[in-house]
Amino acid sequence: MKDRLILGIETSCDETAAAIVKNGKEIVAQVVASQIESHKRFGGVVPEIASRHHVEQITLVLEETLKQANLSYHDLNAIAVTEGPGLVGALLIGVNAAKALAFAYDLPLIGVHHIAGHIYANRLVKEFSFPLIALVVSGGHTELVYMKEHGCFEVIGETLDDAAGEAYDKVARTLNLPYPGGPHIDRLAHEGTASIDLPRAWLEEGSFHFSFSGLKSAVINTLHNAAQRGITIDPKDMAASFQQSVVEVLVEKTVRASEKYQAKQVLLSGGVAANKGLRTAMEEAFKKKKGIDLVIPPLSLCTDNAAMIAAFADVLYEKGIFGDYRMNAHPGLEL
Ligand code: KG4
Ligand code: ZN
Repeated sequence: MKDRLILGIETSCDETAAAIVKNGKEIVAQVVASQIESHKRFGGVVPEIASRHHVEQITLVLEETLKQANLSYHDLNAIAVTEGPGLVGALLIGVNAAKALAFAYDLPLIGVHHIAGHIYANRLVKEFSFPLIALVVSGGHTELVYMKEHGCFEVIGETLDDAAGEAYDKVARTLNLPYPGGPHIDRLAHEGTASIDLPRAWLEEGSFHFSFSGLKSAVINTLHNAAQRGITIDPKDMAASFQQSVVEVLVEKTVRASEKYQAKQVLLSGGVAANKGLRTAMEEAFKKKKGIDLVIPPLSLCTDNAAMIAAFADVLYEKGIFGDYRMNAHPGLEL
């Protein structure tokens, strides 16, 4: 079989990214231009600023990706892009760049769901074994997904309120840590002890859903009450306690889902999958589970990137699912 080269573009939030992936499994080149520095002083992503940065960066990022790969657009088999979910103005930059390239070079156009991309970041590490369970934990999503075959996603659990990454970022803000807060809490957590009693939202028996807003409120209330009584709480201990509470629920529900669905593989994905506490706890939990293969991508493939978009686009290419020039940005796209 001739190799298939797909160019992926990702602009759903605050990274302008492009990558070329061979046969859905091998990264040929990848570039990620992060805007974190521009959003930091606002304590979160400002949609208008994100769109402006994407406009400035997209051409440079694409040129750099082709240069790294030592390829021209004529060598490619398709152009893939995140069409949703995400910030509408940000998504539109990627979608329009992809449409323009597909038109100019007469290449097929493929629209990719951002979360499908996060899951397929794992295929750049290891070939999938079905059935599998994927835990997706990012700034906007917390989902347990069951897959019987390529491109077939069944969401068996999701958050009822805040996403895991969102809870990390909000708690970090309360602790006066910079945006994005996840990596800072992760670092502090390793220096502190989980000595503060915080809730775990297990929800009803057997539920694979999540809820993090109660935990976030508990952190805020505990800090507030302590301050009123003149007691200082070490932010390291609060970070460690919060992280333990999040990780315990994520790991336990993933283990239970893998048992119920007789998974051969468990995949970890999304920005929060970069969390050291979560990675270690997952490894510990699945070491004891014979016959279940745990896959954890390197940090660069956990946070937003375009290699994951090209990786899933390869599956859509194989299935003959293509977009056309009417493609639009879909901020609330369902998996
Ligand atoms: O997947 P991602 O890059 O963007 C979205 O699609 O949302 O995820 C970003 C989220 C942010 O909330 C960030 O705080 C969190 O991932 N994050 C982490 C860590 N690194 C990034 N959360 C906990 N621990 C980390 N080490
Ligand atoms: Zn993401």
